[in-house]
Amino acid sequence: MSSKHATATSNTSHKIHIILDHNRELIKLKKTPFQLHHDEAGVDNKLLQDTFKEIIKEFNRLVGLEDIKKLMYGIFGLIQVGKYREVLRLKSDSTQVLHMVFKGNPGTGKTTVARLMAKMFKDLGILSKGHMIEVERADLVGEYIGHTAQKTREQVKKALGGILFIDEAYSLIRGGEKDFGRESIDALVKSMEDYKNDFILILAGYSIEMEAFIHSNPGVHSRFPIQLTFDDYSMEELIEIAEVMVEEKDYMLTPSAKQKLKQLVMEENENPLRNLSNSRLVRNWIEKAIRNQAVRLLNEQQALQSKHILMGIQSEDFLDIKKKYV
Ligand SMILES: Nc1ncnc2c1ncn2[C@@H]1O[C@H](COP(=O)(O)OP(=O)(O)O)[C@@H](O)[C@H]1O
Ligand SMILES: [Mg+2]
Repeated sequence: MSSKHATATSNTSHKIHIILDHNRELIKLKKTPFQLHHDEAGVDNKLLQDTFKEIIKEFNRLVGLEDIKKLMYGIFGLIQVGKYREVLRLKSDSTQVLHMVFKGNPGTGKTTVARLMAKMFKDLGILSKGHMIEVERADLVGEYIGHTAQKTREQVKKALGGILFIDEAYSLIRGGEKDFGRESIDALVKSMEDYKNDFILILAGYSIEMEAFIHSNPGVHSRFPIQLTFDDYSMEELIEIAEVMVEEKDYMLTPSAKQKLKQLVMEENENPLRNLSNSRLVRNWIEKAIRNQAVRLLNEQQALQSKHILMGIQSEDFLDIKKKYV
């Protein structure tokens, strides 16, 4: 399955656990918004909708990633409808599992999406803490027998109530049969059994490597019902991402700067040696341009009291942007 931006696949044949057990959580958390809206008399539709809108606002600001947004709407919908079902004493589906695999090149938004998910799942009452522990092979794999299981368990414990995000997870099968990476996978699988509803595991990495990894172990494949593909961004999306980035920092691109940026992205797309068709490169350019603007303003002895001048990134601020150390 593939689409232009991102693909969500859901393996529904595997009924596993997690989420809607959050009702227990909600009672503990007291202040979760649903409690305010949900009583014996019914559910306050408007307030509930507003709450969901608020929770998803930041996520909606992401450029592209349409299928990933759809997946989130699906999870939101399930929880929302579950609230109405509870009022009428119908069963709500508390058997969904949210462990995920994120496939895609560096800079395609995997870490950003995972962080936002952690926050939103907390707001929805699915996770109790909503933090994210980001690890890689070296944080999980030890040096002697037994060390790996211990290291892996420690990371899982840190992630309880939140998300454990394993970057370049395919490297856990790098060394073949005797490698300790496999011990880490076994420890992760065991933790998924032991702490069913207490954390969400996300495995991330390059598409091809992740496919190989998932299929190397049937236990792994069946435990990750949600697999998301993060495609490289198009040129238009990269420009949009750049605009979001500058806005977030209280800057803006002048029309000529935007044009210049387009040209830079286009050149990069045509470069046969390019290894980044994604947002990281754009972020680096923006950060450099912001430094260049500061130097330009000081050199020009501009009126630094003017918001307009302080905010404006001009095309000349992108000059020599591809050179290292400028
Ligand atoms: N869809 C998007 N909309 C806005 N900004 C994005 C988007 N995707 C990525 N970014 C930005 O690009 C940068 C790199 O993204 P990141 O999540 O680290 O990618 P990955 O984890 O896949 O390597 C981050 O600064 C992030 O804020
Ligand atoms: Mg990342």
